[in-house]
Amino acid sequence: MTVTTQAPRIVGSPVYPAGSRVNERGHLEIAGCDIVEVAGEFGTPAYVYAEDDVRARARAYLDAFRRRTDDFEVIYASKAAPLVAICRAVREEGLGIDVASGGELEIALRAGFDPRRIYLHGNNKLEADLRRAIAARVGYVVVDSFTEIERLERLLDRPQDVLIRITPGIAASTHSYVQTGQLDSKFGFGLADGLGERALRAVRGSRHLRLAGLHAHIGSQIFALDSYMHAIEALAVLAGEDCRVLNVGGGLGIAYTNDDDPPPIAEYVDVKVRGVRAVFDPAPRIIVEPGRSLVGNAGVTVYEIGTVKEIPGVRTYLAVDGGMSDNLRPMLYGARYEALVANRAAEPADTLVTVAGMHCESGDVLVRDAMVASPSAGDLLVTPATGAYGYAMASNYNGVARPPVIFCKEGDARVVVRRETYEDLLGRDVQ
Ligand code: LLP
Repeated sequence: MTVTTQAPRIVGSPVYPAGSRVNERGHLEIAGCDIVEVAGEFGTPAYVYAEDDVRARARAYLDAFRRRTDDFEVIYASKAAPLVAICRAVREEGLGIDVASGGELEIALRAGFDPRRIYLHGNNKLEADLRRAIAARVGYVVVDSFTEIERLERLLDRPQDVLIRITPGIAASTHSYVQTGQLDSKFGFGLADGLGERALRAVRGSRHLRLAGLHAHIGSQIFALDSYMHAIEALAVLAGEDCRVLNVGGGLGIAYTNDDDPPPIAEYVDVKVRGVRAVFDPAPRIIVEPGRSLVGNAGVTVYEIGTVKEIPGVRTYLAVDGGMSDNLRPMLYGARYEALVANRAAEPADTLVTVAGMHCESGDVLVRDAMVASPSAGDLLVTPATGAYGYAMASNYNGVARPPVIFCKEGDARVVVRRETYEDLLGRDVQ
């Protein structure tokens, strides 16, 4: 590691929400809001998003497509941050939505989505969820198994557009936990094993399922875009003339640390559009369903440092008032994050620390070996790039209440999800 005595770079950093800066007081500012004030008003820990950053990324997808084709749809993979405020913001920008459960379907409906722009995913959709989706008249069900094809057929009494989820036999270069395109996968129908073809026959032969097209999502946090070319080529082998729609998934990676250099949204869109045009004639409607790349860098988490434990010659632990219950990614995937003392954002990052959570597990470490400005108890610590799969995978481990979500915009901060209370925590315990 290179030891730096510089203040960390915030302006223009790929990791922080666009427009972040260090203000005159030496505090981190996001979307015009001083993070020290935000923490004072709403408490810590808190997820803080720059609303306009989410909107700008949604527009970047739309603009990139519009420059290349007029037959496309961008849908938000709501699993990345399943909250009404974000769903509503991307809906207002013109996106559709991917939901992966009955719960996400409810969130999408609450956010005001036209049901025709909702895509229902899942490798084991519950019958109750299918019923709800049918009643709500969602646009597309992405069928994932033969059992589901039969189940859906039984539940329907009218035509329903479906996409067939294909696992094209591509192992994208990303963490194995977020690879989904390889043959040995719990998702979808394989190509090499002939199941994809059988699924097409089953849907074509059904009474109520109307084949709209194919779907493939090969994984998440992907930087090497050539995997998409291969996936699209594989789909082309299977697709018939009745495949009007091709959903080529999400997956674009983001910068978690300053060393990460993911491809821009426009390049990702370009690869997908060119990939489809290269092997389809006429080209079907192209759908992408990004999650992480819409919201990941738009959000940060703000903690308060509670203790500083220096083990001479070993390391210095900062313990914060959150941890694996609000960000499981370091523990689950070994994910790396940056760290910043938000109230000393202009000071040199001169102290090597490890940021630990407050949970009863030694592995509850949020950031290993970060350089931060000499921290003390009571300081605020920010981890950027937590906008995707942080809130989404939060838990109540150790009885910890889940943080609120704050939206910042042009200097105004507002709560869009309130902090959990102990009443919430005990509300379902009927003893
Ligand atoms: N479409 C489907 C069918 C998916 O399964 C996913 C993500 C997406 C779209 C959106 O992918 P994205 O654009 O966000 O990469 N919890 C993990 C990520 C799991 C992704 C699951 N599926 C993480 O924290 O890295």
